[in-house]
Amino acid sequence: MQQRYHLQWASPRSATASVLALILSMPLAWAGDEASDLAMPQAVSDTPFANEREAVIWRREELKDIESLVRQLRFDLINNQDIEAATPRLLELQERASAQRLLPAFIEGTHGSGSEARASIWEEWDQFTDGFTDLEDKIANLIEVAEQQDPRDTARALSEVGASCKSCHRAYRYD
Ligand code: HEC
Repeated sequence: MQQRYHLQWASPRSATASVLALILSMPLAWAGDEASDLAMPQAVSDTPFANEREAVIWRREELKDIESLVRQLRFDLINNQDIEAATPRLLELQERASAQRLLPAFIEGTHGSGSEARASIWEEWDQFTDGFTDLEDKIANLIEVAEQQDPRDTARALSEVGASCKSCHRAYRYD
């Protein structure tokens, strides 16, 4: 949003100024500082998606895959106590269940038919993003703990991941 204002200020002066403003504003948009990564996507154009429907379908598929990964990890870490098998899946979980990756799919107002998302997500955006940040922390902790190979600590860290999922669902997802 901010960079659009830069363009408007610059354009009355000269084309060069507006091109310059555009070039200067690009790193701001793409640099990936934390504040802008977690910003609410207000329109499809703020995101990599072609339309809202695609974003909703993508996030739902992604969350289902994340759920399968967690289930598989329970099998690797608890049933089999096989850290070798778990390691690549832990890293995949960390990469896929990140706030930065998932939040662009939550375009403002994309609740309603075909989605279980609650409208309050966009009224309480900061709390909603905190839910994904909390999940990131719990996954990072699980990775650290799993490496120590203590079954009880690992089981506890894994259930904290599950509790983080559930806590957000209770607030922001219809059953
Ligand atoms: C910060 C909030 C938040 C966190 C954390 C979160 N989810 Fe969700 N999840 C949602 C929302 C919102 C929806 C509904 C999305 C929709 O239907 O558009 C959802 C939907 C889902 C779905 C249903 C997808 C479908 O199409 O049936 C699954 C499965 C799921 N989440 C699994 C998980 C798992 C597993 C975790 C933890 C590893 C997790 N979620 C963490 C908010 C969250």
